[in-house]
Amino acid sequence: MGTSNTRIAVGEKGVVYREPSYLGFNTNTKEFLFFGQEAKTIVGKTPDFIKIIRPMSSGILNDFDAQVEYLRNAITTAVRPYMVEFSLLKPPIHGISCAPAIATEIERKAVVESLQKSGCTQVTLVDRALATAAGCGFDIFSHEPKLVIDMGGGLIEISVVSGGGVVTQKVLKSAGDNMNKLIANYTYLKHGLVLGENTCEDLKIKLLNFDNQEDTINVRGKSLETGLPKSIKLKSSDVREALTSQFHHIVDATRELIENAPPEIADAIFKNGIALTGRIAGVKGIDKYFVEELKIDTYVVDHHADATIYGLIRLNKTPEKLYKIAIS
Ligand SMILES: Nc1ncnc2c1ncn2[C@@H]1O[C@H](COP(=O)(O)OP(=O)(O)OP(=O)(O)O)[C@@H](O)[C@H]1O
Ligand SMILES: [Mg+2]
Repeated sequence: MGTSNTRIAVGEKGVVYREPSYLGFNTNTKEFLFFGQEAKTIVGKTPDFIKIIRPMSSGILNDFDAQVEYLRNAITTAVRPYMVEFSLLKPPIHGISCAPAIATEIERKAVVESLQKSGCTQVTLVDRALATAAGCGFDIFSHEPKLVIDMGGGLIEISVVSGGGVVTQKVLKSAGDNMNKLIANYTYLKHGLVLGENTCEDLKIKLLNFDNQEDTINVRGKSLETGLPKSIKLKSSDVREALTSQFHHIVDATRELIENAPPEIADAIFKNGIALTGRIAGVKGIDKYFVEELKIDTYVVDHHADATIYGLIRLNKTPEKLYKIAIS
């Protein structure tokens, strides 16, 4: 259950569901009408009585009822089809999920209960950073510390994993979503242009790179002055400028974590390098940017967009290990 995207995997089948964590709610009929990509696509284009809800915020479940509806819909459409052999009875589902370490006990309980209410008979919860590290291909039980930076929509989790636990961690609550806001602020202040959320996300994905590659996009929005449609040319360097402060925060937090780590851990990080994951790790040249800033070997992991769910798939294959790290 990510802030931006929800992924579901079924045992050996792999990932069966990968959709934005968005729903559309009809406030007149009190019905949830749109789920996933469809709900995300209509952001900013709906009549007043349709409210777009994002049940997760900064990695934390903050709208329980919406989340239950979302999961029910996802389980019905993507998971149940794999269970036809039990078509008369609803088969038991063992749900495995994760929550970030910053979630309080009540917030973790809400995750477990949302899964129970949406059809899981048994729920196992693990620390999200451990699942992500497992999905990066690391043996999370080894005593060789590994530094993983998961850069998603709602959280930047900078974690050192070793011996089946998180040894040290820093979390930033402004991540990919905040980058979209920074782009909106930039075009507003610099060009007097008001842009929607999805447009800003699109600009980030299409223009941002750390390869010094200069792409250009003609973007249409609303003129602050006249209120009428207006278009301007935006370049990769504009987006880089808008997001510089945010990337500096990530680098500074990583540097601080390493500086405050015990010498053995700092040494292991220098030796093993930094693994980047989450969809922000898809920004071209981001590994080189980290190398330049921190002078530590940095690389983007395979399947960086889905590392956390791959970690859960991997842990599910070794139940004895899974139970060792279960937090609920
Ligand atoms: N190619 C890309 N380049 C840059 N950013 C991207 C790219 N693709 C997606 N993103 C951004 O990545 C973010 C979503 O990342 P991801 O799916 O890893 O987050 P999440 O797991 O749902 O959230 P979180 O882990 O923070 O709870 C969004 O802000 C999205 O705009
Ligand atoms: Mg994530």
